[in-house]
Amino acid sequence: MANIESVLQENRVFPPSEEFVKKATISGMAAYEALAKEAEQDFEGFWGRLAREHILWHKPFSQVLNESNHPFYKWFEDGQLNASYNCLDRHLKTQPKKVAIIFEADDGSVTKITYEQLYHRVCQFANGLKKLGIKKGDRVLIYLPMAIEAVIAMQACARIGAIHSVVFGGFSAKSVQERIVDAGAVAVITADGQMRSGKEIPLKPAVDEAFAMGGCDAVKHVVLYKRTGSPIHVHAPRDVWWDDVVRDEPDVCEPEWVSAEHPLFILYTSGSTGKPKGVQHSTGGYVLHSILTMKWTFDIKPTDVFWCTADVGWVTGHTYISYGPLACGATEVMFEGVPTYPDAGRFWHMIQEHKVSIFYTAPTAIRSLIKLGADLPKKYNLSSLRLLGTVGEPINPEAWMWYHRVVGNERCPIVDTWWQTETGAHMITPLPGVVPTKPGSCTLPLPGIMAAVVDETGGDVEKGKGGFLVIKRPWPSMIRTIWGDPERFKNSYYPAELGGKYYLAGDGANRDLDGYFWIVGRIDDVLNVSGHRLGTMEIESALVANPLVAEAAVVGKPHDIKGEAVVAFVVLKGARPAGDAAKEVAKTLRDWVGQEIGPIAKPDEIRFGENLPKTRSGKIMRRLLRSIAKGEEIKQDVSTLENPHILDQLKEAVK
Ligand code: PRX
Repeated sequence: MANIESVLQENRVFPPSEEFVKKATISGMAAYEALAKEAEQDFEGFWGRLAREHILWHKPFSQVLNESNHPFYKWFEDGQLNASYNCLDRHLKTQPKKVAIIFEADDGSVTKITYEQLYHRVCQFANGLKKLGIKKGDRVLIYLPMAIEAVIAMQACARIGAIHSVVFGGFSAKSVQERIVDAGAVAVITADGQMRSGKEIPLKPAVDEAFAMGGCDAVKHVVLYKRTGSPIHVHAPRDVWWDDVVRDEPDVCEPEWVSAEHPLFILYTSGSTGKPKGVQHSTGGYVLHSILTMKWTFDIKPTDVFWCTADVGWVTGHTYISYGPLACGATEVMFEGVPTYPDAGRFWHMIQEHKVSIFYTAPTAIRSLIKLGADLPKKYNLSSLRLLGTVGEPINPEAWMWYHRVVGNERCPIVDTWWQTETGAHMITPLPGVVPTKPGSCTLPLPGIMAAVVDETGGDVEKGKGGFLVIKRPWPSMIRTIWGDPERFKNSYYPAELGGKYYLAGDGANRDLDGYFWIVGRIDDVLNVSGHRLGTMEIESALVANPLVAEAAVVGKPHDIKGEAVVAFVVLKGARPAGDAAKEVAKTLRDWVGQEIGPIAKPDEIRFGENLPKTRSGKIMRRLLRSIAKGEEIKQDVSTLENPHILDQLKEAVK
């Protein structure tokens, strides 16, 4: 609640400039209200109209929404389309020579690809995949660096109706193996390695390790994109080089027409249990919402240069790199490297060089760049910018103000976009030519998105009070199910406790008196570290899988740059370590978590105890652990603790 109250004291309001409003696709509050009213009065008519206007259908749909099997909604089900056709073929006649992607590599080298070239490369690769025997409905795991090839791989899967599952290149061999097994992947597309900050990070060796862990027998092919040229093991005939896959393949490929409900992709994300959830998205609804939000939230225009800094391994990279900008025929920047290499001016330099007009990044990146050079943006010409965006976590008002003043030169609206892997695209966000922004608030829901804040019983809370963020009606780009686990889908997102009617986002939120939404953070055991979702249970399971560990509990604590930091409380099987021994074990365990999940999940701090504080029924007292992690005075009742002296042990952090 303290958090809610502190952000609600924010009373600065920034209306969009008249000039911006005049040119905006959705211009002025009346236009927004008209759309919102249309959705309220004729929900299906509204979405049906938009789907007909924005998507190229191979076969039109006859029914907009089928709600008969709640909460497994179907949208535009008997309509047929192809996502790749909607992203590429539609531009072949109108703008074949327009640059689709400006790719900047870690070392600064730039490659540009036009719509026509991208189309041909996607077709060739799609033909190559077909030759390998990959068919409609097959799952293909993609484990690639940021590269044009990553977009080609995703688009080629979509073209032949195969379902891609992209795994972020920073995830470990174990994560790759778990996802291969869970998705039942028949092929893996990977690279020899990737470049970050001038250093090479291997990728293919992690795939080899994943195979060695077992359970990957369904994988018949591994396609290898040569990025670094470092020697790797090539297990012929299973492993084939990308260049050999496309050699001699025709550069046109008839798309596979699929139902609007055909899964386009599975993307794994953390939940409140140890096992990541395979979020399954559809084709029609997902493509529709990607297009709409490019036009509504980003106000995309033919002359824009759009840059989303996310990795294609996250949903943001899916929607706002691989699908949305292409479906809208935009020119987009794609970046392999990191914002701090060769120096903290990299983003600003790239905006200047590529004349970026719409820039979309994460609060954690903004905060770290402020720290490394609050005045740095002033050294660059950022006058091409006209719109800024953020995503992934709440942005603190001061970081927002810096973004507004120093990067946007007080000219550019900021769209703080609230959404999730499960929602597919933006849900609550200012429309830049409509909504006056308040630093730290994602403002108002998009037209047709029935967002609300409710209490434990599902009843609306008064404005000004906090509660659970829910979406009361389905929307086209929503998660369809958790791959292979429909029960978990239902229990996670439509829990009986809330009446089972509304989509439960898992975030706490508050609505202020103007109806603006303020996201407070997760209400479940999910952390948001640098905009990445990490399940505390996932890290706990990784820790207890180490032979040294008897028990572990993981909580988050506020962190200046990352938003949240991971704190692990660990009980070892042997004696509690002290001094250098503690440091050594902590290092071993941090590296272990890095191997089990990926470096982003490594605990910032490990605290060793002889035991963990538990309730009488044996539940770990997480709230107490959170207070200890924050260094707060302990106010909870600890009288029932068997051995209160462990609290002193747990106050000692080993970094
Ligand atoms: O807690 C919210 C936070 O990120 C979560 C979703 O994470 P993920 O599925 O990884 O997707 C991130 C990219 C869409 C949400 O439940 N979140 C995302 N955007 C915002 C946010 N919190 C506050 N403000 C936002 N704009």
